[in-house]
Amino acid sequence: MARIKNVYASEILDSRGNPTVEAVAYLDDGATGWAAVPSGASTGAHEAVELRDGGSRYGGKGVLTAVANVNDRIAPCVRGLDPADQQGVDQAMLDLDDTIGKSGLGANAILAVSLAAAHAAARSAGLPLYRHLGGGALLPTPMLNLLNGGRHATDSTDFQEFMVMPIGFGSFAEGLRCGAEVYQALRGIVSARGMSTNVGDEGGVAPSLPTNEAAVELLVEAIEKAGYRPGEDCALALDVAASEFYDGERYALAREGVALTSAELIGYYEEWVKKYPIVSIEDGLTEDDWEGWALLTERLGSRAQLVGDDLFTTNPERIGRGIAERTANAVLVKLNQIGSLTETRAAIRMTQAAGWNAVISHRSGETEDTTIADLSVATSAGQIKTGAPARSERVAKYNRLLRIEAELGSEAEYAGASPFAKLRR
Ligand code: PGA
Ligand code: ZN
Repeated sequence: MARIKNVYASEILDSRGNPTVEAVAYLDDGATGWAAVPSGASTGAHEAVELRDGGSRYGGKGVLTAVANVNDRIAPCVRGLDPADQQGVDQAMLDLDDTIGKSGLGANAILAVSLAAAHAAARSAGLPLYRHLGGGALLPTPMLNLLNGGRHATDSTDFQEFMVMPIGFGSFAEGLRCGAEVYQALRGIVSARGMSTNVGDEGGVAPSLPTNEAAVELLVEAIEKAGYRPGEDCALALDVAASEFYDGERYALAREGVALTSAELIGYYEEWVKKYPIVSIEDGLTEDDWEGWALLTERLGSRAQLVGDDLFTTNPERIGRGIAERTANAVLVKLNQIGSLTETRAAIRMTQAAGWNAVISHRSGETEDTTIADLSVATSAGQIKTGAPARSERVAKYNRLLRIEAELGSEAEYAGASPFAKLRR
C-alpha cells in the first residue's frame, strides 16, 4: 500500500487573477497528485472559510497563510497515511483544524490536500480519477452558462446566470456541440444588435439588457437560430443568486426598478416556467428564507428543479434541514463550500438518498483543475454546471468529460433529460 510521503502547497492565480492554493501530494511509490482550489464571488454566508492573508499584497487576497498551513501543519499530520483512505486523510485535517467552518487551517488549504491525495491515490492505483472515486458511466447533462449577469459581470442583468441544457441528445459530445453552437448563435445575435460580446467571469456574454426576461428571450432565440428546438433539444436553466439582491426585506431588481416580496418573485418564476422551457431554477430566493423556499417548492417543485446553492452551501446539516422541511428539491455541490472531498461526498449521498438531484458545480473563480468532471461521473450526478463553452478554465472541464466519454466507449450513457423525468411539464 502506498503512503503519503509529503504534500506541498503553493500560491497560484485563478481565472480572475486572484491568488488561490494548489497542492501536490507525493506518495512513497513515486505517484503524485495535483489539485487547485476554486473561489466564488457570490459566496454563501454559510460557506467554509476561505483563508485570505489580508493586508495590501494582492489587495488582501493572498493565500500565503493557507499555503504555510499546508506545508508546516498539514504535511506533518498526513505523512504516512494511506491516500486511498480518503476519509482518514480528511479526518486527520479536520481534527487538526478543530474549528467550525475550517477557519483554523482554511478550507482552501484543506481542500487542496484532500483533492491532491485523491489524485495521487488514483495515479498509484493506475486508475482514472472517476474510477478511483467509485466508477459510474453516466455523463452529466451540462448547464452551460451562456449569459452572465449579477456579480459575474457589470451592467448586465440582476439575475446571475442564464444557462442552456442540451437534453435531447444521445451523447455528451453531441450535447456539448449543441451548447457550443447555441453559444456562437447567441454571440452572433448580440453582436448584430450592436451590443457588446465581451464575456463575464464564467465565459458567457454579458450585454447590457433592460430586463432579466430579455436574457431568457435571447437564449430562446439563439437556440432557434442554431437550428434546435427550445424545450426539446435544449432546455433553459437559471441561477438567480437571489441572496445578492435581497436587501433584507425585498428582492430589489435594480435594472427593472422594482422591489419584490418572496411571494411576488415566486409569481414571476411561475409565469416564466409557463412561458419558457425553464427546467431548473437555482437560488430563486435568498439563503436564509427557509419559509419562502418552502412556498417556492410547494408552488413550483413539481414543475421545475429548484436548486439550493447559497441555501445549502454543500453542508450536510443544511441539506438535512432542507429535506425535512421540503425547501428545494436539488442541491448545488461545490467542493470548496464545505472544504473536503469526504464531506462533499456525504452531501451528495444524502441528497441522492432523498431522491433529490445533485448538480456538481465549478466556482466563478476557477483554474485548470478538472476534478469536478470526474466527480460528476463517479457519483452519477447527471448534471454539471461549469460555465460557457469558452475560457479554458471552463472548457477544461467539458474537455475532460469528452475524454471520459471516449474512454468509456459503449459503456457511457448520457443523462440528457433524465434528471427531469419526474417533472410535470
Ligand atoms: P460563485 O457563483 O462561484 O461566484 O459563487 C457560482 C454560483 O452561484 O453558482
Ligand atoms: Zn449559484
